[in-house]
Amino acid sequence: MTTIIAIDGPAAAGKGTLARRLAAALGYDYLDTGLIYRAVGMNLARAGIDPADIVKAEAAAQALQPNDLAATDLRNDEAAQAASKVAVIPGVRAALLDFQRLFAAQPPGGQGAVLDGRDIGTVVCPQAPIKLFVTASLEKRAERRLKELLDRGLEAIPSTVLADMRERDERDSKRAVAPLVPADDAFVLDTSDLDADQAFTAAVAFIRSRI
Ligand code: DC
Repeated sequence: MTTIIAIDGPAAAGKGTLARRLAAALGYDYLDTGLIYRAVGMNLARAGIDPADIVKAEAAAQALQPNDLAATDLRNDEAAQAASKVAVIPGVRAALLDFQRLFAAQPPGGQGAVLDGRDIGTVVCPQAPIKLFVTASLEKRAERRLKELLDRGLEAIPSTVLADMRERDERDSKRAVAPLVPADDAFVLDTSDLDADQAFTAAVAFIRSRI
């Protein structure tokens, strides 16, 4: 059986960076599950369809192709909001479950899998032996997202970035199906005052204590 590391947390808490580094250090495969929701949301938005349209969103989730994850517009804020909207729809989540579980059970490299998202430790892989919940204050996360957008040469207004993040936090945490909550057995890592190296060191220490 392969080892699964489940990493959950809100947007811009540092979970993607941490997940990628852990996967590289351990020789495991990495799946960014947010990208799947972003791809479904943008397949709708690009076609001029409201991502909150339940019937069309479910059909888009069922029709998702691996190639869709390579689209170049999945990192922008429109994609983040569209993803968060399709993610509240139970039929969308159900349609995407098999893809994620198959990756976890049979990662391409065969060693292990690191999955990051919102519900990996609670719903997708509740049996994962290692669960991390990576979080940080709303203000710190908005600050990081603003820097990331500016570094990419995009225009961004601080108050808008903060408001968008708050809105997405609310939607992700309050939805009825698979809301963003730490699993009971998750190690909660608050990165508000940690840089990427310090977060990695803390995560490795926890993983060592578990393996
Ligand atoms: O991690 P991210 O910012 O790329 O995720 C985009 C949205 O997708 C997020 O706001 C909620 C949704 N999502 C989810 O509901 N479950 C996951 N496992 C991953 C993402």
